[in-house]
Amino acid sequence: MIIRQSQDVRPSEITSEGVYRSRRAFLAWIAGTGLMAAAPDVLARALASAPPAPSPLRYTPNPRLSTTERQNSWEEVTTYNNFYEFGTGKADPADNSRGFRTRPWNVAIEGEAEVTGSFTLEDILRPHPLEERIYRLRCVEAWSMVIPWIGFPLGDLIKRFKPTSRARYVEFTTLLDPQQMPGQRYPVLDWPYVEGLRLDEAMHPLALLAVGLYGKVLPNQNGAPLRLVVPWKYGFKSIKSIVRIRFTADRPRTSWEKALPREYGFYANVNPGVDHPRWSQKRERRIGSGAFWDRQPTQMFNGYADQVASLYGGLDLARNF
Ligand code: MTE
Repeated sequence: MIIRQSQDVRPSEITSEGVYRSRRAFLAWIAGTGLMAAAPDVLARALASAPPAPSPLRYTPNPRLSTTERQNSWEEVTTYNNFYEFGTGKADPADNSRGFRTRPWNVAIEGEAEVTGSFTLEDILRPHPLEERIYRLRCVEAWSMVIPWIGFPLGDLIKRFKPTSRARYVEFTTLLDPQQMPGQRYPVLDWPYVEGLRLDEAMHPLALLAVGLYGKVLPNQNGAPLRLVVPWKYGFKSIKSIVRIRFTADRPRTSWEKALPREYGFYANVNPGVDHPRWSQKRERRIGSGAFWDRQPTQMFNGYADQVASLYGGLDLARNF
């Protein structure tokens, strides 16, 4: 499957599908009439600089694994982001990732697996039909959103590489490129960003590799071209712009554990019973609904307890936060 880029598209520039189609029809008509040659410069320039619509993706909705809660708007999902490689402010990722190049893109598969090597993004994506899953994303900072992701199960990708019997964990790494990612010029984290899952967590059908949202190719600020979405864990586990997947026998050391081990654990399961050392995790603010101070109760495993609680039988979830 080939996905075209959505780079350089600002949310404010995004054209509705109807406008997009009528513009194309108008351009075709102009070309047909030969009017273009006679059109004043200004019209030609305006048409040439018309922003492209973000590329639509082909996918099947998966209502069984989707919430029916009100979805956050495209604007909210693409302008209120955490992506420290592009800055620590919520608007920084949208502002600073506009020129980020996501093609060509390779993903290295390493470690305890029968199949390893460097794969192009197209190699990674080709065999996987895309589906839409509307998931809640609960950030450790006590806000949440509902996002219609487009992607495919991480477990289906992992199976292709045949992890060996020694593989117990999967480590994910984001691109390291301070030239393109200005946030990496500052020692905010030990770059590159690293995250990890236990292999059985990674194989869980809810764990998604996302390539899009709202039916369109993933905007850069949301982790283009390939990011993880683990809906029962705090958002920081959902690593963006992945360039390496490594199967390991030992538990990976993740960036947030390294930076602040008292505050961020390896598991990072959404657990309203375990406060962050500096704030409560009992409630959350749903971005874009109600007043700023309105909070709703946070659910165990972000509301996915029925599906995932069995992964943690026998594990003390207060100690293993
Ligand atoms: N991945 C990388 N590489 N760098 C980051 O700073 N932030 C995480 C996660 N993935 C982050 C990342 C955090 S804290 C959250 S809440 C989610 O991305 C936010 O995803 P969104 O911006 O698509 O909503």
